[in-house]
Amino acid sequence: MVFEQIATGGCQSYLIGCDQTCVAALIDPELSQIDHYLALAARDGVRIRYLIDTHTHADHFSATKELARQLDVPVVMHRASPAPFVDMRIGDGEMVVLGKLRLQALHTPGHTADSMCLQVEDRVFTGDTLLIGGTGRTDLPSGNPEALYDSLFNRLLHLDPAWQVYPAHDYKGRSHSTIGDEIATNPRLQKRDRGEFVEMMRGLNLTMPTHITEALRTNMSGGKTVASLLAEATSAVPFMSLAELRSRVEASEDDLIVLDVRERDAYEGGHIPGARLLPRGQLELRVNQDLPDPTRRILACCELGYISTLAAATLRSMGFTRAVALDGGMKAWREVGYPLNTGKEP
Ligand SMILES: [Fe+2]
Repeated sequence: MVFEQIATGGCQSYLIGCDQTCVAALIDPELSQIDHYLALAARDGVRIRYLIDTHTHADHFSATKELARQLDVPVVMHRASPAPFVDMRIGDGEMVVLGKLRLQALHTPGHTADSMCLQVEDRVFTGDTLLIGGTGRTDLPSGNPEALYDSLFNRLLHLDPAWQVYPAHDYKGRSHSTIGDEIATNPRLQKRDRGEFVEMMRGLNLTMPTHITEALRTNMSGGKTVASLLAEATSAVPFMSLAELRSRVEASEDDLIVLDVRERDAYEGGHIPGARLLPRGQLELRVNQDLPDPTRRILACCELGYISTLAAATLRSMGFTRAVALDGGMKAWREVGYPLNTGKEP
């Protein structure tokens, strides 16, 4: 068996494969680790054939949809998943065939309605249903403490006590435990009475995960994260350093149009000498009038360097093949004490 455990902060994902047939699946992949997964699969000599999310994640950005696009392989989730991009919906008791391996799905709602665990040989990928020394929370969308009680006490904890538990999270650097260890030592599993367990889960009063709104939006719809949009734009444009731009501005280089894409009040409060104002929100509407020559060299700048990157990528997509972005923004320009003009340009 090929097996890799990849941690991203407290999130755990897994590459599991059949070493005889060289096929593998990724379980709960995280968006920022895409290159890491592909490199591990290549090193281990397996081809990723399935992308599996154990449930709709609220606390990290799933890589399943993006990897499905790159690899042309199916996204697998439980049939209760709301995500429209799931290619293969599976139900309780069904299996994903991975060469000689069989990944058996157990529907274990509670943390979310679409939570499932996956069992292969002596390992159980428990998602957020069962964590090491904990359980998934039940106060996020579609969570249900009564369902979690049933999933744990009437399903998962009946599995072989020797089987290994690989959860979707661990914040203390532990890789796994066993069903037997969890039954014996997991504090939440000591509440074996249904009413007491439900009362404990309802009383946890946990803080909301960071990025929950964006994680649910993107994981449930397959839409892009803000970081993905920026990464795509960044990969499509060249950049110029602050120092390089300064020397070109001081040399009054005629060839270069510095395009300040902030709003007018920010521009008039202090801009790069000679910069033109064209707010990002008006870029597409005013581009024909303001930038009639698409062969000109244009450098976009903004306050922090993000919006200018998007603006430069938009300009490139519109045919301004010499559009670049400032590596940094006006905040950094001011901080290093480079020259500024205020008000309107003459
Ligand atoms: Fe979760």
